[in-house]
This record gives sequence, C-alpha cells and structure tokens, in this order.
Amino acid sequence: MYRIDIMTLFPDTVGDVLSESILGRAQERDLLRIDTHQIRDYTLNKQKQVDDYPYGGGHGAVLQADPLYQCWKHITDTHGPGRTIYLSPCGKTFTQGDARRLAADHGHLILVCGHYEGIDQRFIDECVDEEISLGDFVLTGGEIAAMAVADAVCRLVPGVLSDPACFENESHWDGLLEYPQYSRPEVWHGRAVPKQLLAGNHSQVERWRRKEQLRRTRQRRPDLFARLDLSSKEDQKLLAELDWEDSRPALTQPLTIRPATPEDLPRLLAIAAQAQARLRRHGVDQWQDAGGYPGRADFQADMARGECHVICHGGDIAAFFTLSAAHEAGYDAITDGKWSSDEPYAVLHRCAVADGFQGLGVADRMVAECKALTLAMGRRWLRADTHKKNRTMQNLLRRSGFQYRGNVLVDTDPGHDPRRLAFEVRLAGKPLTGEERP
Ligand SMILES: C[S@@+](CC[C@H](N)C(=O)[O-])C[C@H]1O[C@@H](n2cnc3c(N)ncnc32)[C@H](O)[C@@H]1O
Repeated sequence: MYRIDIMTLFPDTVGDVLSESILGRAQERDLLRIDTHQIRDYTLNKQKQVDDYPYGGGHGAVLQADPLYQCWKHITDTHGPGRTIYLSPCGKTFTQGDARRLAADHGHLILVCGHYEGIDQRFIDECVDEEISLGDFVLTGGEIAAMAVADAVCRLVPGVLSDPACFENESHWDGLLEYPQYSRPEVWHGRAVPKQLLAGNHSQVERWRRKEQLRRTRQRRPDLFARLDLSSKEDQKLLAELDWEDSRPALTQPLTIRPATPEDLPRLLAIAAQAQARLRRHGVDQWQDAGGYPGRADFQADMARGECHVICHGGDIAAFFTLSAAHEAGYDAITDGKWSSDEPYAVLHRCAVADGFQGLGVADRMVAECKALTLAMGRRWLRADTHKKNRTMQNLLRRSGFQYRGNVLVDTDPGHDPRRLAFEVRLAGKPLTGEERP
C-alpha cells in the first residue's frame, strides 16, 4: 500500500479533499493510505504555539523546528522512514516527471506544509530530503501544494486508475501536451467536433491526436517542444502539414448564417465559378453545363423561395447553400436502393465553399446549419445527392452522418453525366411542430 503522511496546521481541510472521489475510493480499496497530522499536537507548551519571531528581525513568524521534528519523528517511528518533502517556493518546480519518480521509487512520502514566513532551516537540514515548489508564486501555506503533489503521485500508483492508458496518454507523460477532447453532442453552439474523430477510423484518430499534440506543444510550450525527438518519418510528415497549415490564413472571426439577398448575387456567382473550376480540375462532370450552373436565375429563384442561405466570415461570404422543403420529383425514381422512409424531408441542393475558405470547417458548419434548419422546418430527414467522382462532397456527407441509398438522375445539358449518388440522414433532434416554427 502506498502511504502519504501530511504534516499541517489544517489537517481536516487537507484530509477532506484527499478522501474524495478517485483517491477516496483507492483508500477504501487499500491501495493508498493518506494520513494528516496536526503539527500543534506536538508542542510542549500549553498554548499549543508552534511559531515564533524570526531571528534577525523582520515580518511575521516562523514555524519552530521542534514541533515539526516531534511530529515527523512520530510518523517515522510509527510507519517507518519516508521520503520527506518540504513544500516551498524555494524548491524545484514540480513536474509530471517528479510525480512518476515519487510514485515509482518511494512507497512512503512525508509532506511538510509550512505556514507564516516558512519553517526553521534546521528542521529542513536535519529531516528533509527534497524541497518542491508548485510554481513561481507564493501561497499562504503548503497545504495546496501538498494536496497537488499527493494527488499527482497517487493517481500513478498501480490500480488507482482503471487503466495505465488513462495517464499514459495525458499531457506531460511523454513531453507533449494533450490533444483537444470532445464529447457529445456532435455540434454545440454551432461548433462541430473535428471530422477526423467521427469516422470511426482508429488510425485516423491516432494520427489526428498526435498532430494536435504537436501543434499545441509547439504553440504553447516551445520549451517542451525543443526537447522532443521528432525524427520519425511520421512526425516529420505531421510537422510539414502543420507548417503548411500555419502558413494558411485561418478563420479570424466566428462564422454566421443568414438568408442570401440580391446584393449577394455577384459573390454567389463568383463562388459558383470557383467551384465549377475546382470540379473540372478534379475530373468531376458536375456543374459543367454550358450556361454555368448554378447561374443567376437559379440563385434568384432560390432567394425568392427563401431557400438560399450564406455562411459569412465577417463581411465576406464563405459559402452558400440551398435547402428546400419542396418535394423533389427526381428522388422518387431512385434505383439500386431505396429511401428509408416516406416521411417528408428537406433537400440540400446547390452548395459550395469559396476559395480561401477550404479546409477550415466551413462545409461542416454548413451541414450543421442545414440539419438545424431542417428540424426547424418540421422535417426529420435530410437528403442530398452528388456525383460519383465528387469525393469531397461524399466525404462531407458521410462524416456528417449521411448514408448512401441509391442512384438518382438530375437535369443536365446533353452530353453531361446525369447520374448522382443519393444520400440521406435521419436527424437526432426533435422537429419543430407547426406552432413552434418561426
Ligand atoms: C507565505 S509562504 C512563505 C514564503 C517564504 N517566506 C518565501 O519567501 O520563500 C508560507 C508557506 O507556504 C508554502 N508555499 C508558499 N508558496 C509555495 C509554493 N510556490 N510551492 C510550495 N509551497 C509553497 C510553503 O510551505 C511556505 O512555508
């Protein structure tokens, strides 16, 4: 059993904190024992005074050596010798490496909490093995530092946490800071969980996490980053990707959504032209009709029906999309599969992200907004279609929870491929009823 004795003027406070939750349960299971000791109980005077004025003058009082020594002696006589640590702003700054060392190399710690101006140096010289500081600041007493050290050490004691992986993947274990963590829901306040975490692909998740660890450590702790061995091929590749991403403009403002207005038309046509050129470059026979699709008339009709929306970054339009609750006749003739439900649905039609806003999560935000609007329309199903070579759109739909259902045909100029892959997603939220709808 790992043992920690804490010498303090506030044993109840310290004991209460360390007997809660994980450390409390570990003590019940006899993996740990944390005892606190009131230093005042080891004075010989009636007033239980443990401090006196400092020799040489100056402010405050100093904890006297003898009560500290008597308390320490009682602990070592009763429980055997222990690694004795004085919590002090003059000590070495505590690190995860120290926590690992103390958990692995010692089975018994004695933590000494100072108070007032500190403690008599002669006790330190006689009994203390090392001095540990919580950081470059001064606390009123050593209790918070002792609790921090005890907590960090105890969670590394075998059996205290369910699995060593719990701490081996954490910040400071191997010199890196941890990657960002996310839990449900998938979109919160319009902020989507990174797509790499949603596909259920373990190696993709591991790669994303390592990259985010490197990104964070490099940005926030260049001192730690400088000490890392990043010579592996995989790390070199991740670093090259980070360099490239850092050299790109990032989103500097929150994304907002609003219905498109006629004043947006020139920008919408420009974004459509950028998307047409991108599709052409990637050999996707979609949006390649002679007149340029979607064109002015398409946008005007969408706006007249209130179906065209824009995602804005500050004053600039980063993306557009058309979401319609109208029945889509072309979807009735689905082949090689079928839709899951006859319930009313909404359709995500024309959509594109502007050049310069690719790879910044704008498309994921767009789909998240479509889902919210679909529920607001009172619909539970959202459908979309895309070209079989349009991998970007297919990936976006799949990582947003859409499933492939079959093939449909769309209107195109003669000579262009009219076949499209059809997708649908059943939304998890509650559709608004007629009265609830805005
Ligand atoms: C007010 S401090 C004494 C500071 C001391 N006079 C000095 O200037 O170094 C009282 C007690 O708080 C604890 N303490 C204060 N800052 C600490 C830190 N950064 N890390 C660990 N313990 C600290 C020590 O146990 C110390 O004896």
